[in-house]
Amino acid sequence: MKVLRTVKDLKEFVLTLKNEGKTIGLVPTMGALHAGHISLVERAVKDNQSTIVSVFVNPTQFNNPNDLATYPRNEQADFDLLESAGVTAAFAPSVEEIYPPEDADKDVHVFDLGKVAEVMEGKFRPGHFQGVAQIVSKLFRMVEPTHAYFGEKDFQQIAVIRRMAKTEGIDIDIVSCPIKREEDGLAMSSRNVRLSANQRAVAPGIYEALRYSTEYSMQHSVQATHDTVVERINAIPECEVEYFSIVDGNTLENISDWEDSDYIVGCITVYCGEVRLIDNITYRK
Ligand code: PAJ
Repeated sequence: MKVLRTVKDLKEFVLTLKNEGKTIGLVPTMGALHAGHISLVERAVKDNQSTIVSVFVNPTQFNNPNDLATYPRNEQADFDLLESAGVTAAFAPSVEEIYPPEDADKDVHVFDLGKVAEVMEGKFRPGHFQGVAQIVSKLFRMVEPTHAYFGEKDFQQIAVIRRMAKTEGIDIDIVSCPIKREEDGLAMSSRNVRLSANQRAVAPGIYEALRYSTEYSMQHSVQATHDTVVERINAIPECEVEYFSIVDGNTLENISDWEDSDYIVGCITVYCGEVRLIDNITYRK
């Protein structure tokens, strides 16, 4: 597996792959890789003749400086995992490489991300999706893959990236991959390592409440389902729901009745101590 550090080296490598007639799959990540990331990578390796994985903690999508400072980093372990998964190249640039200080005044494009970026994460993490769109569009343009892979754990992120690709005129197949969970149900996340032993022990209660609510939703209203999830999770020690939204899976608009849509997803953010965890569950599809 090649490790590429500069945009120039990445572009040259991409050109070589294309001259060899190889299709390219792209998996953007921020590193601290776990089995969730690797499930995307395996899918990309299976679908494409070559796979490029980016490992870059993108500062522009962090609205909380402490979250950026404490974001776990484990580059060598990441490269080892990617190599064993059969990845062709890892792109692991520095911040200056992606955002050269001399280009600061040029890099001010505001993306039209529409309504899907205004709700939920968009509301609670101002600027976050502009940062995501900024880095993902750069990666799309540098690599020009035929397919790019994203996890449904970040359900809203997929909708925002699809919208960005559409408004930017980027023709790449955005492939969504299912959420990988720990055996006890907790959605895998790089941030899970920041949980204390006690927090880690109670955090599976988030998915337990979500799962319970799918049964509950068969007999109860959207509002009652919403409230039972929030109550159950807030009753877990150290856990506090930031938001729980039951939305149309395509528009991400809140629904008020189970008949409002045939694709319905509940998206949740929970603070477990200082650690912000996100998860979601499909109610109807
Ligand atoms: P990161 O959090 O590292 O996640 C990289 C990709 O892995 C995302 O598409 C995310 O949805 C997916 N992923 C994370 N945990 C997962 C799980 N438990 N199951 C399945 N997929 C999972 O998301 C980002 O990075 C960044 O915003 C990025 C898109 C790389 C832009 O900087």
